Amino acid sequence: MAELQEVQIMEEKPLLPGQTPEAAKTHSVETPYGSVTFTVYGTPKPKRPAILTYHDVGLNYKSCFQPLFQFGDMQEIIQNFVRVHVDAPGMQEGAPVFPLGYQYPSLDQLADMIPCILQYLNFSTIIGFGVGAGAYILSRYALNHPDTVEGLVLINIDPNAKGWMDWAAHKLTGLTSSLSEMILGHLFSQEELSGNSEFIQKYRNIISHAPNLENIELYWNSYNNRRDLNIERGSDNTLKCPVMLVVGDQAPHEEAVVECNSKLDPTQTSFLKMADSGGQPQLTQPGKLTEAFKYFLQGMGYMASSCMTRLSRSRTASLTSAASIDGNRSRSRTMSQSSESGTLPSGTPGHTMEVSC
Ligand code: BEZ
Repeated sequence: MAELQEVQIMEEKPLLPGQTPEAAKTHSVETPYGSVTFTVYGTPKPKRPAILTYHDVGLNYKSCFQPLFQFGDMQEIIQNFVRVHVDAPGMQEGAPVFPLGYQYPSLDQLADMIPCILQYLNFSTIIGFGVGAGAYILSRYALNHPDTVEGLVLINIDPNAKGWMDWAAHKLTGLTSSLSEMILGHLFSQEELSGNSEFIQKYRNIISHAPNLENIELYWNSYNNRRDLNIERGSDNTLKCPVMLVVGDQAPHEEAVVECNSKLDPTQTSFLKMADSGGQPQLTQPGKLTEAFKYFLQGMGYMASSCMTRLSRSRTASLTSAASIDGNRSRSRTMSQSSESGTLPSGTPGHTMEVSC
């Protein structure tokens, strides 16, 4: 009898006819830690922050964010914002391999490159959107420059330095696994990897055949050598802006994100645990993430409900009516998405909210 295999259903809703991706322009700037490349989509909108993305290890801005930012429903959001997609040094398409002995920047230094980008573009504030190492970098940037960060979407953030147990496990894995398998284990859940779907095969292929694999190893090492962000609820060292934490319910970083949520200000933080999304929700569930991002922006006062689709408008009402009690741009709830049913129950400020899609 044929074996039944679990198949991951991916949301796909590409651009509609007539919807064309906006023109992109790639720039490089020199910083005290070397050159950094970034790609700008759209034009600056008066009185609006730029959306600035930072990708995870093993990826670049396209392989990390294209499926989300080119998702059909995302267009009505991003047309209101200019986007700056940063490629970590040596990760941009066609990047030459760094010479042997090259000192790759630490994650803290990568965060310190961001002011050079913003100065070059003459942008004063951002909404950061980061995954994994990118989420850490944007958080570090926000801790150092709180006045320039209006909001943060952090997927799979691990704010802690590796402890000695993690190091021991990492060293052991390194003895038996290749670099690309270790990075895949960081990006995807074990279930996804053993399922070896076409999607996983695509990313396995991208990483294992990357012409800049040596550069990727340097970014990987910087990630593994990260310092503790030392975020403490109620201390000076905490994120001051609205934060949307996102993690897949089977993702390798689930525990770390849960712990991070416990350290952030609950009145400023939404926590979205996504069902059926594996390790990279922005790749596997762009529709759900787009909708959550819309709510997040709306909570910050940026997406008037008149800009939203009829479906989103009616579903969002239950969320925003609760959010508006405590004022305009500050949110005071934790939002957690988990089940498979099709309704959005309403919530009250300061309480955990289950959002089901
Ligand atoms: C954007 O429109 O921001 C975008 C387009 C393609 C890839 C990544 C981002």
